[in-house]
Amino acid sequence: MGRIVLVTGGGSGLGKAVAARFRASGDTVIITGRNADRLARTAAEIDVRPITCDAADPSQVAQMADELGPDLDVLVNMAGGNTDLDRPEAQNPSLEQVMTAWRANLDANVLTAVLTTTAVLDKLRPGGSVITVGSIGAEHAASSYGAAKAALAAWTAGLSSEVGPQGLTANSIAPGYIAETDFFRGKLSEQRRTALIDATHNGRAGHPSDIAETTFFLASEGARHITGQTLHVNGGAHTTR
Ligand SMILES: NC(=O)c1ccc[n+]([C@@H]2O[C@H](COP(=O)([O-])OP(=O)(O)OC[C@H]3O[C@@H](n4cnc5c(N)ncnc54)[C@H](OP(=O)(O)O)[C@@H]3O)[C@@H](O)[C@H]2O)c1
Repeated sequence: MGRIVLVTGGGSGLGKAVAARFRASGDTVIITGRNADRLARTAAEIDVRPITCDAADPSQVAQMADELGPDLDVLVNMAGGNTDLDRPEAQNPSLEQVMTAWRANLDANVLTAVLTTTAVLDKLRPGGSVITVGSIGAEHAASSYGAAKAALAAWTAGLSSEVGPQGLTANSIAPGYIAETDFFRGKLSEQRRTALIDATHNGRAGHPSDIAETTFFLASEGARHITGQTLHVNGGAHTTR
């Protein structure tokens, strides 16, 4: 199809699966991430172009946008994760610690998408798409991660109304539990994993390909009238009705 596709957080997990899916259909794909070594390894493996970039850093995002070239067709805001899993759990955290933890999740999930989208918006050609990855956690998690992903869904709806007149769509995908990623940092207990699977209607964890195929569809010709939406990909663990 010959589109140009940018996938932030494309060095691992869901971003890697999404990048590989677009590449397999002949698109030119650029992936970003902070870990340059891993990004380069992934890029070589799936035949895409790596640009090292911390999507929460405005100057790095501006430089990445410069390196990208003038045109873009699909932006996938995948970079993110639950930053609470990167720090030891604090018992009775101070307000300072609460603030730091909340800001980390808002930076990692909201700012990464907002900065990247803002930096590349004028490159997106008519018929293009912005696809931002949220989470089932936005529906019921009492955490900064859930709140950050909920903010992304609201922001996506507003973005859709802004970019619609330019022939662009903007949607969010909210995955449930997806196995085979680094998301849980090795901290997912067997009991919790079983509970997450038991909460689905189809009795299985999601696979990265579930998200890759949904992303690919949202960027396709057949999805041009789908915009401003959150698509839940969770095996029924959360239903919208
Ligand atoms: N796996 C699940 O069950 C699940 C469920 C719901 C939602 N999600 C969401 O899906 C997305 C992908 O996560 P994953 O499951 O594939 O986990 P993952 O394997 O940990 O992937 C996260 C990716 O984001 C990149 N990243 C994080 N912060 C970044 C930043 N500031 N700038 C650039 N890249 C950044 C990481 O690369 P670097 O470390 O190299 O920067 C990594 O490649 C996340 O937004 C996550 O919240 C995942």
